[in-house]
Amino acid sequence: MKKLMVIGGGYVGLVTAACFSRKDNQVILVENNPEKFELLKQGKVPFYEPGLDALVYEGIQKESLVFVDNIAQAMEHKPEIIFSCVGTPSQSDGAADLTYVFSAAKEIGKHLDFYAVVVNKSTAPVGTVRKIKEVIAAELEKRGSSQAFDVASNPEFLREGSAVNDFFIPDRVIVGVESDQALQTLWMLYKPFCQEHDQFIDMAVESAELTKYASNAMLALRISFMNQLALLADKTGADIQAVETGMGSDKRIGKQFLRAGIGYGGSCFPKDVKALIHMGKENNQPMTLMQEADCANELQRNIFVEKILAYYANDIKGKRIGIWGLTFKPHTDDIRCAPAIDIIRKLLDLGAEIIVYDPAGMRHIENIFGKQLTYATNALQVLVYAHSLALLTEWEEFLAFNETEFVMLKDRVIFDGRNCLDADRVRKAGVTYLALGRQMLTDVSKDGGDRLHIQTDTVSNTRSEASL
Ligand code: UDX
Repeated sequence: MKKLMVIGGGYVGLVTAACFSRKDNQVILVENNPEKFELLKQGKVPFYEPGLDALVYEGIQKESLVFVDNIAQAMEHKPEIIFSCVGTPSQSDGAADLTYVFSAAKEIGKHLDFYAVVVNKSTAPVGTVRKIKEVIAAELEKRGSSQAFDVASNPEFLREGSAVNDFFIPDRVIVGVESDQALQTLWMLYKPFCQEHDQFIDMAVESAELTKYASNAMLALRISFMNQLALLADKTGADIQAVETGMGSDKRIGKQFLRAGIGYGGSCFPKDVKALIHMGKENNQPMTLMQEADCANELQRNIFVEKILAYYANDIKGKRIGIWGLTFKPHTDDIRCAPAIDIIRKLLDLGAEIIVYDPAGMRHIENIFGKQLTYATNALQVLVYAHSLALLTEWEEFLAFNETEFVMLKDRVIFDGRNCLDADRVRKAGVTYLALGRQMLTDVSKDGGDRLHIQTDTVSNTRSEASL
């Protein structure tokens, strides 16, 4: 059992604190935002994250999870490990804003009169942990203190919507450390979460900091690659989903993060890709691949709107476009950098009337668009009201609809931004199906032909002849 302190009650901090408290650690979480602090004290989670509220409630009941609103008070508990999980938002030039990181470090330094491992868990550029160490050392020097401490980098790999699961069952735990003492301290903390010791990977601090950006950038690059490939598929009659299957069956490529669509959003990929690009510029090593991935991601939203516009012969004034899905992905209420925001803005600029529905993201979208949109109370209402439907987030409840219900759409056309509907079944229901990288299916629907369906007996004959 260890005494821990976590600074920041956001997606990363609250998940970290709640999950550590579940494994017999004594955790004190610092949240200085008054509204959030009040909610946390009542055991309420200020955002949607499946399973987190139960963990927070349990931690409060067991008193293994305590909330305070300032670092000084938390430091009185003399935690062995201090996790900094504060926000590192994007600045206009793409650089990560480290204001909160260094103000937390300064406050820690002011009150550090015991050995602790100060761990940065916020996504921050390579070299940040070194600077945190300097900030703390400067505060100790001001007080004439020679208190020993260690610093470490421990990036998180939590996906929104599955963050609790990702914390309890990590692919790997990465720690960047400078001393054996810090390494052993963190190993003893994370041991209960690692089935195998080799899941716990230690390296230099800078390597751990870069690993975080590199991992997210690789995932974002795959998505942008598939999205650009989908545009080529549309021009060459290929089906991007077949290509995805074909590629993913190569174990070296793997099946995940190959789904083409309107692109990635969220509070991480867009921010981290831009921060890595900025890091490249800062270090005179342009990250040109990531620049292309970032551009491709932004472009995909425009191409999706152009597809809708093209269907309506470049005039959607007065058309009622239904939007299913506002959040950047399912199982979250987070709309940060969601493609839906840009797509809705463009459709409004083009004169369309928009009706939206999302299981979790409605209030956040209403805070942005207010009375410019119509807010449906359920998914079915969108089908009844709209001329056509744009599906932007692949929530299960949308996929549960029977294709025959889509004929309620006045123009009987669906623009599938996540390539998640069954194109054949939608088309057979008499609804035009348009997506990104699946254009050929629409061509087939016009021909009504079966040129895509190779007669299996032909194939089996070929095989039997070959075996003779
Ligand atoms: C991501 C990383 O997965 C996680 O490891 C890191 O710690 C934080 O950033 P998150 O942003 O929560 O997690 O969501 P993720 O599931 O990775 O999806 C990110 C975006 O990519 C979503 O907008 C999703 O719709 C999109 N995506 C994902 C695709 O467009 N295609 C895919 O195949 C997969």
